Amino acid sequence: MSILSGKNILLGITGGIAAYKTASLVRLFIKSGANVKVVMTPASKEFVTPLTLSTLSKNPVYSSFVNEDEDTAVWNNHVDLGLWADLLVVAPATANTLSKMANGVCDNLLLATYLSAKCPVYYAPAMDLDMYKHPTTVQSFDKLNAFGNIMIPATSGELASGLVGEGRMAEPEDIIAFIENDVLGKLPLRGKKILITAGPTYEAIDPVRFIGNHSSGKMGFEIAKAAANLGAEVILVSGPTNQTATHSLIQVIPVTSAQDMYNAVHSHFKTVDVAILSAAVADFKPKEVALQKIKKKSSSLVIELEKTKDILESLGAIKTKQYLVGFALETENELENAKGKLKRKNLNLIVLNSLNDKGAGFKSDTNKVTFIDDENTISAFELKSKSEVASDLLNKIISHI
Ligand code: CTP
Repeated sequence: MSILSGKNILLGITGGIAAYKTASLVRLFIKSGANVKVVMTPASKEFVTPLTLSTLSKNPVYSSFVNEDEDTAVWNNHVDLGLWADLLVVAPATANTLSKMANGVCDNLLLATYLSAKCPVYYAPAMDLDMYKHPTTVQSFDKLNAFGNIMIPATSGELASGLVGEGRMAEPEDIIAFIENDVLGKLPLRGKKILITAGPTYEAIDPVRFIGNHSSGKMGFEIAKAAANLGAEVILVSGPTNQTATHSLIQVIPVTSAQDMYNAVHSHFKTVDVAILSAAVADFKPKEVALQKIKKKSSSLVIELEKTKDILESLGAIKTKQYLVGFALETENELENAKGKLKRKNLNLIVLNSLNDKGAGFKSDTNKVTFIDDENTISAFELKSKSEVASDLLNKIISHI
């Protein structure tokens, strides 16, 4: 899955011959899973039709402040468009538009949207070689650079004038790759490796039966997704669950029992920066696993249980640089018990959820948590969706590592 998936991309098209390539660019953005809206300068409509772009982007195309095609005039709100965008990409960016952007000129909808947008702005210059080198163009680049706008450099090749040199707009595939790399490189967890456990474990009684629990795995999968969206490479060791992870930065290792989870976790722990153990691991397992299905011959059955290995505690005992996070599900003396676990298992952070809170814990889409760290800082949160809890947790971890 592309890092652009789910992002709102506003493509600003200006009047250069390279505008014909924006049909491919829109298609590639859509293919990457992004939502795309297009704003065109009036001149750009000479090179590519709004109909092509609205069909490909699956959205109306904007080009003037007032939509004159409607019976009653409709104002195209540049402020809303600017705020909608997670990324504004101006491609092709002509010398004229770049100069206007650099100088705050605001004589069309694209420029007004540019001034309203708070998101990162990318621009892909496209012009003839002498225009590209002209001191005023270079000055525009410098100014835009100082504003924090990001240039997707033009390439060298044959230009529309027939001359050969620098000034060709980067190819659509390269524009996408440039933006993906740039977005990824700026993510706070880029270069970090995170190990996460999720879901229940199943402890076999015989070939057809097991001891399990109601954990859905949702919390762990949300944490994995949030970590990957922040750029981390994620190893997700999961017990049996219906959850799925499609992000390219998430590697799922499916396991069944507590011992399988223990083995998988230990084979990766040394290489990770952070470990978050959110799985509901069985604390006990049958001492003997019957080789054949147990028959209901007798009126009662006693299964002797023995403790499973505590995976979290075993990591606390060997951790070096790793930031170690555990979960505690409590029903009484919540804070005290959680603090006890934090210490006993040598954790950096524990996420407490109490079964006394409505909407918290297993199966639900929400959770109500309290973070306690190794400096005894306690932060209690409202009931939130599990994806919001996941980003609160990762923000907390980012502030520490
Ligand atoms: N955990 C683990 N391995 C186990 C049991 C628990 O890694 N065999 C981890 C869980 O993933 C969780 C934390 O330990 O992060 C707390 O689990 P919990 O069941 O609340 O606590 P326990 O330490 O098992 O204590 P108790 O059941 O007595 O409350």
